[in-house]
Amino acid sequence: MPTPIILDCDPGHDDVFALWLAAGNPEIDLRGVTTVSGNGYLEHTTHNARVALTVAGVHDVPVAAGASGPLKRTLTPASWIHGENALGGPELPEPTVPLDPRSAVELMADLLEASPEPVTLVPTGPLTNVATFLEQKPHLREKVREIIWMGGSTGRGNVGAYPEFNAWVDPEAADLVVRSGLPVTMVGLNISHQALITEPVVERIAAVGNRTGAFGVELLRFFCSTYDAVESMPEGPLHDPITVAIAIDRAVATVQRCHVDVETQGEFTAGATCVDLHDMLGREPNVDVALTLDVDRFWQLVTDAVAQLD
Ligand code: BDR
Ligand code: CA
Repeated sequence: MPTPIILDCDPGHDDVFALWLAAGNPEIDLRGVTTVSGNGYLEHTTHNARVALTVAGVHDVPVAAGASGPLKRTLTPASWIHGENALGGPELPEPTVPLDPRSAVELMADLLEASPEPVTLVPTGPLTNVATFLEQKPHLREKVREIIWMGGSTGRGNVGAYPEFNAWVDPEAADLVVRSGLPVTMVGLNISHQALITEPVVERIAAVGNRTGAFGVELLRFFCSTYDAVESMPEGPLHDPITVAIAIDRAVATVQRCHVDVETQGEFTAGATCVDLHDMLGREPNVDVALTLDVDRFWQLVTDAVAQLD
């Protein structure tokens, strides 16, 4: 039976590929999409999620908008990577996928309540919606099978020496989620920087020959151009779909279970994930930290999913 998931995202170029992987892979039952502010303001990320599903011809998945800002902080969208509308590059078609009138938290709650089996939450942005859901709907915790999150890092950051963007936008939300007691897998920069968008990868996606692939290539070209400009990485890392790939097949990544804290105070380190890989603290492990990626398998999953869409 396919794994039921709710994808909570802030599209964002790599979020779009996470959406497409979830919609196009037969092992995943994409029950709902919720949006959060992060890469862009909520109006942009919500619009972009609807655009991504429209391009792919996915009209049967509800899309609901969530938090317009972090729990306690002011949002700084990642326009330096994703552009002013959070999805720079291609001309965006007017979405035909409607916006569900419910909030992200209400849609999550309705989907979990209606589901006979627990559902996996896959957040690929700041954890504001997920944290709010856990706070507001504690009775539905047992309906959450696990949380597979793109965020954090075992080492370097991308908005400072240590903090990664999704954790940095809303450290208080990330702190709440890693301390929730629910099974959490962290897909951080240490693994996402293994998913590099090389020229052969772009050519394989172009060779699919459908509308989604052509749109995807425009996204990848823009994303790599900003990664080149900002981080001197002309082969940018396609972070977010690794979460969905793990939901499809855990063998795509190795993980190490260990204790993780999220720094919410530091002057230079707010949003840093302190990953105790060597058990220096002797504290209870709370996170499965993804370490190494089966790169070929990952790109095969992404390419195959794009080929299933319009
Ligand atoms: C994360 O931040 C965003 O820019 C990407 O969409 C990804 O979720 C990488 O740090
Ligand atoms: Ca994202």
